[in-house]
Amino acid sequence: MSKNGTASPIGLDIGTSRIVAASQSDGGYSFQSQLNAFVMLPYSRMTENVLKRENVPYSVRGAEIVVHGNESEKFAALRQVETRRPMTKGILNPGEPEGLNQIRQIITSLVGEKAAPGQKLCYSVPAAPLGADENLTYHEASLRQLLVQSGFEVKSINEGLAVVYAEMEDSNYTGIGISCGGGLCNVCLAYLSVPVITFSIAKAGDFIDESAASVTGELANRIRLTKEDGFHLNGHHTNKIHQVLGVYYDDVIQTLVNALKETFLAERNVPRLGRPVPLVLSGGTTLPGGFRDRFDKILKESNFPIELSEVRVSEDPLSTTAKGALIAALTDM
Ligand SMILES: Nc1ncnc2c1ncn2[C@@H]1O[C@H](COP(=O)(O)OP(=O)(O)OP(=O)(O)O)[C@@H](O)[C@H]1O
Ligand SMILES: [Mg+2]
Repeated sequence: MSKNGTASPIGLDIGTSRIVAASQSDGGYSFQSQLNAFVMLPYSRMTENVLKRENVPYSVRGAEIVVHGNESEKFAALRQVETRRPMTKGILNPGEPEGLNQIRQIITSLVGEKAAPGQKLCYSVPAAPLGADENLTYHEASLRQLLVQSGFEVKSINEGLAVVYAEMEDSNYTGIGISCGGGLCNVCLAYLSVPVITFSIAKAGDFIDESAASVTGELANRIRLTKEDGFHLNGHHTNKIHQVLGVYYDDVIQTLVNALKETFLAERNVPRLGRPVPLVLSGGTTLPGGFRDRFDKILKESNFPIELSEVRVSEDPLSTTAKGALIAALTDM
């Protein structure tokens, strides 16, 4: 049986930074998330007992205790180490042998160990990065296998398309959905719900953190916490870390806008849309104040080839992909 004992469908956003599960509740949607990260601690029975008592998700591996999800961050900060990350740049991290195991643990803590009979689950997958010969098959198939083993009926959805599903009912699922996350910015142009162009760029939140860390000599995790705590893109910065963050934010937005422009100019299949279409931004990297306006300004300066009816940030940027995946599970399976 599923965690809540029902067979209600699940939308799952398996992101580089966070894993988010969406389900229906009281005519609306509800979301639960965990950091897609873990940290190893030396095993002791005392530590295990305490973690159990505090309901901290963990598993025991030989002489070590693995704390995964949201709590891993605190332990890493206390021990002055970086958390380990099962994924990098949108896909399973080839340099992290524990990756798939830890993703399994985190997903289990969100959706339960076993599906209810016939329970449907749709999970997000990234698009291939522009210009890179990235093979997404292993990533997509490994996650599918993991979810099928738990008993779910499984389908995947492209992350940009999930944004379109979540946000563009009013335009009949026509428009440009963008998710700026930890590892990637994912883009999808959809026409009447059909994905026409999808791609990603491998610059997003992690790039900002790692670049700012190398310039300032701080740990990337510390930079991330500063970035998530009230950083904004308007005006001038007196704080050194904020100033550096501003530089790399601009780099990400500029790279994204160039990629959008060049891909849409080069693509012969851009349909004659016949009307201006919305562009919706989502993902954790869009959260700082001023992001939308900065993006809009750089886009306007670029002579973007598609006429837009609006540029807006999604209703709840951290759960947009999971919501779109849930809508796909409800309508497409
Ligand atoms: N309040 C905030 N302000 C600024 N940045 C934030 C905030 N909250 C989260 N972030 C950043 O958003 C990024 C994570 O976003 P998100 O959860 O959408 O990514 P993801 O889906 O896990 O990754 P991806 O889609 O690239 O695989 C991280 O870089 C994180 O630091
Ligand atoms: Mg994402």
